[in-house]
Amino acid sequence: MAAVLRSGFWALVVLVSTSSQSSFERQLSVQLNPGWTTTSPPPGGDLLHVRAFGDNDTLHYLFCSQGAPTLLLIHTNSSSSTVQVDWPLFLARNTSGSLKVEPESSILHSTAVVFSRLLEYDDVNDTADPTSDLFPPYELQNFTWSRLNLTGDSARLCGASSSSSGVLCLQLSVFKTDGRGQTWPRLLHTANSSQLEVWIDGLLPRATRSRFLLELQAVGGAYPLSRVEVHRSIDDEYTPSIFKASHWVSAANGSSDVRSFVQWKPVAYRRSDPALEEATPCSHSEPRWQSGETTAAASGLVQAFDSDLDTFGLNVSFGLAGEPFYNSTKFLSWTVLVGVGSPPVDSFSPLVVAIMAVGLGTPVVLLLLGGLWVCLSKKAADSTTAYEPIN
Ligand SMILES: *[C@@H]1O[C@H](CO)[C@@H](O)[C@H](O)[C@H]1NC(C)=O
Ligand SMILES: *[C@@H]1O[C@H](CO)[C@@H](O)[C@H](O)[C@H]1NC(C)=O
Ligand SMILES: *[C@@H]1O[C@H](CO)[C@@H](O)[C@H](O)[C@H]1NC(C)=O
Ligand SMILES: *[C@@H]1O[C@H](CO)[C@@H](O)[C@H](O)[C@H]1NC(C)=O
Ligand SMILES: *[C@@H]1O[C@H](CO)[C@@H](O)[C@H](O)[C@H]1NC(C)=O
Ligand SMILES: *[C@@H]1O[C@H](CO)[C@@H](O)[C@H](O)[C@H]1NC(C)=O
Ligand SMILES: *[C@@H]1O[C@H](CO)[C@@H](O)[C@H](O)[C@H]1NC(C)=O
Ligand SMILES: *[C@@H]1O[C@H](CO)[C@@H](O)[C@H](O)[C@H]1NC(C)=O
Ligand SMILES: *[C@@H]1O[C@H](CO)[C@@H](O)[C@H](O)[C@H]1NC(C)=O
Ligand SMILES: *[C@@H]1O[C@H](CO)[C@@H](O)[C@H](O)[C@H]1NC(C)=O
Repeated sequence: MAAVLRSGFWALVVLVSTSSQSSFERQLSVQLNPGWTTTSPPPGGDLLHVRAFGDNDTLHYLFCSQGAPTLLLIHTNSSSSTVQVDWPLFLARNTSGSLKVEPESSILHSTAVVFSRLLEYDDVNDTADPTSDLFPPYELQNFTWSRLNLTGDSARLCGASSSSSGVLCLQLSVFKTDGRGQTWPRLLHTANSSQLEVWIDGLLPRATRSRFLLELQAVGGAYPLSRVEVHRSIDDEYTPSIFKASHWVSAANGSSDVRSFVQWKPVAYRRSDPALEEATPCSHSEPRWQSGETTAAASGLVQAFDSDLDTFGLNVSFGLAGEPFYNSTKFLSWTVLVGVGSPPVDSFSPLVVAIMAVGLGTPVVLLLLGGLWVCLSKKAADSTTAYEPIN
């Protein structure tokens, strides 16, 4: 009986959670280098502006490679807010306020995610301890970045270091509505989030046993992203072998106070078209308060947007002890979601519910059928005995 109740409960949970998934939709408009009038591209890198507007609000996504690659997300309470760029000041990269949202009073909040550095260390003893044997870091602000390649609903940016071959690329996708990524880790997304896939391809390792770290900085106004919550699940259907999701959120209490988030699953892939063997676990360091000035100096977008520079940084480390080294494929890819509101959480899929219902329900059905059979045969036996005297 308990099992029936349990599977019924899970079915109910799923029904409730799937029905509560809104079909909320946003309209997208994409603009490359808004307000730039010259035919040649701006020196130093492109600026992409995606407006995602709903009935009463707008999400402005700004993605730029002036300096370290940065995604700036500004949430306004108006569906007609606009972004203004003062290009000469923006390109000088020494003042704030060269990128503005009008009207300024419509800004609910903003968060910038800066991909600041790629670190490499020699894991001689295969301990995956990134504190020793570090090579000089790759400062991503010093990479040479390609123009933004806009294809379909995504934008791709690749950068190369002057001291090594190979590339580091980022691909931004902004979503109109709910859905799930096509490739592993198949993150669930909403109309209030965007996805960034980061990969390094062909970068020459400086040691046979090299492993990599990626340093991220989150610059946020009143609600800085100061902690990472790890959510566990028993369902790995969409991301095989991964039962966790990390949510980098602000410290304000209660989920309704989570103004923006960065979310990822602790897995990277060693091939662009991976099989399960090419999944490699990741770990992250605790967010640390950083000087916002350093981040502003590295990122043109952070410098340009007049915002509070409260910054927290963390490192994502690819590969645990015993995992193959970077040298094995010379490729690593990792995916994050950046959005506003609460991070989307995987619910049980109908397939898993069906499996649970069958697994938990079958013994109960057998038990009931067995009981019924016993009753019926007893009854039959009773009726046989009842007729016996007549014979
Ligand atoms: C949007 O605005 C309309 C009218 O201005 C209002 O009826 C509606 O409730 C608002 N929607 C949200 C989600 O706030
Ligand atoms: C910013 O840099 C430009 C030239 O690169 C210079 O003319 C200007 O005075 C600088 N402004 C500030 C506030 O430092
Ligand atoms: C939101 O919209 C209202 C009305 O347009 C405005 O008065 C208010 O300042 C806006 N900003 C915030 C942060 O609520
Ligand atoms: C690696 O192991 C050797 C021998 O145990 C030790 O001397 C060395 O310090 C270790 N290196 C690192 C980076 O831990
Ligand atoms: C990266 O660029 C910054 C600013 O231009 C410079 O100060 C720094 O030395 C450069 N770092 C490397 C490793 O080239
Ligand atoms: C742009 O990206 C697409 C795939 O997204 C790729 O096929 C194409 O070669 C890229 N174009 C350039 C100029 O890099
Ligand atoms: C996305 O944002 C809109 C407007 O703030 C809100 O009505 C909607 O519920 C949000 N959707 C999700 C899935 O968080
Ligand atoms: C790893 O690197 C070493 C030298 O750095 C090279 O000899 C070896 O072939 C590399 N292994 C693979 C699988 O590429
Ligand atoms: C969150 O709640 C805890 C206790 O429940 C409290 O100690 C902490 O100060 C609160 N933090 C904020 C930012 O309100
Ligand atoms: C990332 O790791 C490097 C090397 O251990 C360290 O110097 C740096 O401070 C770390 N960054 C953050 C934000 O913790």
